Amino acid sequence: MHKDDIKQILFTEEQIKKRVMEMGAEITKDYQGKNLIIISLLKGAAWFTTDLSRAIDLPVRVDFMVVSSYGNETVTSGAVKVHLDVRDDLRGKDILVVDDILDSGITLNAVVKMMQMHSPASVKTCVLCDKEERRLNDFKADYVGFKVPDEFLVGFGLDYAGDYRNLPFIGVLNSSVYARTK
Ligand code: IMP
Ligand code: MG
Repeated sequence: MHKDDIKQILFTEEQIKKRVMEMGAEITKDYQGKNLIIISLLKGAAWFTTDLSRAIDLPVRVDFMVVSSYGNETVTSGAVKVHLDVRDDLRGKDILVVDDILDSGITLNAVVKMMQMHSPASVKTCVLCDKEERRLNDFKADYVGFKVPDEFLVGFGLDYAGDYRNLPFIGVLNSSVYARTK
């Protein structure tokens, strides 16, 4: 299990660290004088969020949501359900929704609409990975760490059926893993 199940490492721990620092610097520049709150989508975005928030040299609040879109493990479909909602008051805030990976676009598209109901000052989105060719709508994230190929990725928060989130790198999962019974 684990490292043997990885076909290829796409981004090393060092590459991720460097890119997250760059993203933090960009966000720091863009949010001067604003009222920034990160809304992080658990569980996957937790790893990215903690590093990103420390790379932002501004006062920043962090709140979490748990949402899921229906479908099987590797294909996203349908509606988005909220399992844990935000608790902070978002009125007048500059919301940055953070997720691990943008795939079909269904999740972030729905979450942005939910955020707009709170009468914020602004809503933007930030993802570590963007699988652009898989998009089912015209959703675009405002901040993208890495554009990634259409492969199933794990590590740095990304999971397959709940596993592999703690790998410090982002790698392509061997397709043989899907076939294996656990
Ligand atoms: P979307 O609604 O299709 O954009 O789905 C985004 C969510 O799908 C992410 O938050 C992940 O939980 C999951 N996801 C999509 N692609 C991958 C992948 O390659 N590895 C792990 N999770 C993925
Ligand atoms: Mg997720």
